[in-house]
Amino acid sequence: MRAELALIGRGNVARRFVELIDQRAARLASDHQLTCRIVGTATRTHGANYAGEPCADAFEVIARLGRSRADLRIVVETTTLDVRNGEPAIAHVRAGIDAGCHVVTANKGPVAFAYADLRDAAAAAGVRFLFEGAVMDGIPIFNLVRETLPAVDIVGFEGVVNATTNHIITAMELGETFEAALARMQEEGIAEADPTLDVDGWDAAAKTAALANVLMNARITPLDVRRTGLGASTGESARRARASGRRLKLVASARRDATGAMVCIVEPRALPADDLLAGLTGSANALILETDLLNRIAICQLSGSLSQTAYALMSDIIAISRADGSRS
Ligand SMILES: NC(=O)c1ccc[n+]([C@@H]2O[C@H](COP(=O)([O-])OP(=O)(O)OC[C@H]3O[C@@H](n4cnc5c(N)ncnc54)[C@H](OP(=O)(O)O)[C@@H]3O)[C@@H](O)[C@H]2O)c1
Repeated sequence: MRAELALIGRGNVARRFVELIDQRAARLASDHQLTCRIVGTATRTHGANYAGEPCADAFEVIARLGRSRADLRIVVETTTLDVRNGEPAIAHVRAGIDAGCHVVTANKGPVAFAYADLRDAAAAAGVRFLFEGAVMDGIPIFNLVRETLPAVDIVGFEGVVNATTNHIITAMELGETFEAALARMQEEGIAEADPTLDVDGWDAAAKTAALANVLMNARITPLDVRRTGLGASTGESARRARASGRRLKLVASARRDATGAMVCIVEPRALPADDLLAGLTGSANALILETDLLNRIAICQLSGSLSQTAYALMSDIIAISRADGSRS
């Protein structure tokens, strides 16, 4: 099966993805009868092109991919997230679906702001819209539920889903100041140059909305998540919690109240030492799903990396090729 790909966004994740599909080309061919070829790219400041010809923007690249005769036409969306509205990724995903392309993304925006609409549009167009890399990198959280938990309802979840804040809290527990811990995270490339999205809890809120929309059929956005980030007193709270045998964590959670309304919260919480989330240090993440049939299930990511996010995109592409292969 011949897949043609258009990369919308060509930053860290996309570059690692390109390396990965190259490294795994023989395996994709032998195990999945799949060859992938990048035919178009679009960035914000470095231009756009399709088949070696310049294009006006991402939308032209996507439209041209839609006219290709490849077995699979796949938009790979990895642009920067605007956490206030989920753009430009939502528009790119919609354009891909409208052009008859499958879409894979590592961007939280589309699922955090517009999941139900995009899911329905993809179904109506007969294409797949997959986003495994949007939360917990390559750890298969959405696939876990979609593929392995049929007829199970997710009634709530709680987790530690942001690596930067977990690193900072861990360092502050050990006496480092917030500023020093953050500066070290930035030097080590763990925190962004502009860490506000992580520190203020926006990244965790976007992931919470994405998880709630997909796993619990919610219709919320990150703006509906009650959000408290790290502040001036967090270091002191972390040290006090540790001294009393507890651990401070930035916990993301979701459940429905008695009326069925979603209650989604991101906030620092002092957890008992024997809580699974309390044991997560450094960049470790974990999510505990509350289910109706299997009680509580936990999935942990002991360390995250760019390769894992790139893998999530590749695994989504393999899923698309498998589904297409089983249809024909
Ligand atoms: N890095 C991670 O470990 C990780 C993990 C999970 C999920 N993600 C998500 O994956 C996405 C990509 O992350 P990244 O680290 O690769 O970001 P990045 O290095 O900042 O790259 C973002 C890319 O998007 C392009 N872009 C931005 N706006 C655009 C627009 N309107 N049209 C076309 N291209 C546009 C940028 O173009 P210019 O270069 O011209 O500015 C750049 O090539 C983000 O949504 C992020 O939240 C990242």
